[in-house]
Amino acid sequence: MCGLVGYTGNRVASEVLIKGLARLEYRGYDSAGVACVRGGELAVVRRVGKLVNLRTALDGAPIVSTVGIGHTRWATHGRPSEENAHPHCDCTGRIALVHNGIIENYLELRDELAAAGHILRSETDTEAIVHLVESYYDGDLAQAVAKSIRRLEGSYALAVIHLDDPGTIVAARRDSPLIIGTANGENIVASDIPAVLEYTREVVVLNDGQIAIVTPDDVRVVDVNLEPVEPEMMHVEWDLDAAEKGGYEDFMLKEIHEQPTALRETLRGRFVDGEIELSELKMTPSEVSAIDRVFIIACGTSFHAGLVAKNLIERWARIPVEVQVSSEFRYNDPIVDDETLVVAITQSGETADTLAGVREARERGAKVIAITNVVGSRVTRESDGVIYTHAGPEIGVAATKTFTAQIAALNVLALKLAQAKGTLGSEEVERIWLELSTLPDVVEAILANTGDLEACAEEYVDAASSLFLGRGIGVPVAMEGALKLKEISYIHAEAYAAGEMKHGPIALITDEVPVVVVATQGHTYEKVVSNIQEVRARGAQVIAVATAGDDEIRQHAEHVLMVPRTSEALSAIPATVPLQLLSYHIAKKRGCNVDQPRNLAKSVTVE
Ligand code: F6R
Repeated sequence: MCGLVGYTGNRVASEVLIKGLARLEYRGYDSAGVACVRGGELAVVRRVGKLVNLRTALDGAPIVSTVGIGHTRWATHGRPSEENAHPHCDCTGRIALVHNGIIENYLELRDELAAAGHILRSETDTEAIVHLVESYYDGDLAQAVAKSIRRLEGSYALAVIHLDDPGTIVAARRDSPLIIGTANGENIVASDIPAVLEYTREVVVLNDGQIAIVTPDDVRVVDVNLEPVEPEMMHVEWDLDAAEKGGYEDFMLKEIHEQPTALRETLRGRFVDGEIELSELKMTPSEVSAIDRVFIIACGTSFHAGLVAKNLIERWARIPVEVQVSSEFRYNDPIVDDETLVVAITQSGETADTLAGVREARERGAKVIAITNVVGSRVTRESDGVIYTHAGPEIGVAATKTFTAQIAALNVLALKLAQAKGTLGSEEVERIWLELSTLPDVVEAILANTGDLEACAEEYVDAASSLFLGRGIGVPVAMEGALKLKEISYIHAEAYAAGEMKHGPIALITDEVPVVVVATQGHTYEKVVSNIQEVRARGAQVIAVATAGDDEIRQHAEHVLMVPRTSEALSAIPATVPLQLLSYHIAKKRGCNVDQPRNLAKSVTVE
């Protein structure tokens, strides 16, 4: 994980690097550092902890330089410390390097380099790379990088500078993201687009196995044999505002409020002349109707979206669906073949476990469709088809708008499958589509009237533990509600199918354990109410998410978070929103940093 930035141009490099790193801090924040070419030396400043520590150090001792590289770290090899912070330098102190990824053969390389007399000062895999570059360097940095990367097993995005060639950054990648923002007289290397948006919207997307030689006036892309390659250019539509907080206190709150737009954008253009439009499947109608099994792989919040999709696809298309967390899928000898559609859901498109699952599925002959939010991300290059959620960049580490956008996209997929299979008639598809199209407004209405949500949050701010219950499509909603609460407020939260409660978890109930129940209208509503009574009889305080107009529920719950009425199948998105807000307000009242919860990172590029 980690974010890297490199700048060469005519501005003060360290300022560009710090601003860029601030926009990449979602990728990790264990330590940060910069290395800039200053006269005949490399000025390297590194600090443990968040970027603010590095910024303070640089404010106290600015570096006058127009070329440099910077890094924000999420520790993998070696604890968070100054020695392990990037940039790392070679023995001569003339080469500096930043890296995102994992080098699997680093121990072997470190031993070899140490035996050859190199002094390695950190515990990292990264440091081996800079010493490799040193050992191969004979006056041509790109060549030394090319030779070094041939020795690497694992994933990397790299940016390297050398005092001998002070205006140049050499960048390379394999299995970790890297782009280069190109502007007039300046170029910026970065892990992700928000870092370059202040300067340009024109971007070179570096592909696996490619090396970029970046100077203020030129970006030259070559392959690992140093043969020229035509750079892949992209024009970025997002403006900088889209990547910033837009007036909200936190990215998470901003992103919760962006859900109506994210849903509208994701659903846009998906129903044309009575047909669900999903050409991204890249399958003929007969191929789609031949699908007899769907396998969904995903992690975390995306996994919960997958569970919602199972409910929808089985309900509408009558195709059996299996959902597995990606980290289990590839080791479970999965039963997939060329009749199976594998759907990989990953907001970032860079989650290592999901990417490994995609490769496994394709090796077994399955067709893989990715659902992702990030254009050009790794998963888009490794899948047969891609359905984008158009949620815009999500900076808050806890997924919110991308979750509901994923569900919207999965609704479309489920309808497409049902249409192809003929399990829903055209009138029924149209009816569902029309209702689906109202969800952005439904979410807008929820956000405009949050009732006593804040008062409810206040009451449970000191809870040590909580339970989340639901039935049917309410189970993944409960799971997502529990995940949001635990990851941003650090309150223990456990989700259960409400009917399973009496088989064990009911023993946890005391009057100090709030129980959040997804109790929206549906065919199991009465059963859910019975489950509420079971927990209340044991002293539980109940917070119910219920359908507007359900006055009965008020007798059974301490707090009711009302959402507008929808059909049961479409209830997951509206029911999720109050749970996101509940977690948000509880976490804020506990003084937690909701955008950067401890120990987490936005894209998990390690297995
Ligand atoms: C939780 C969260 C994570 C991610 C998970 C998968 O709020 O964001 O659980 O959902 O790490 O990430 P993606 O979807 O990028 O593969």
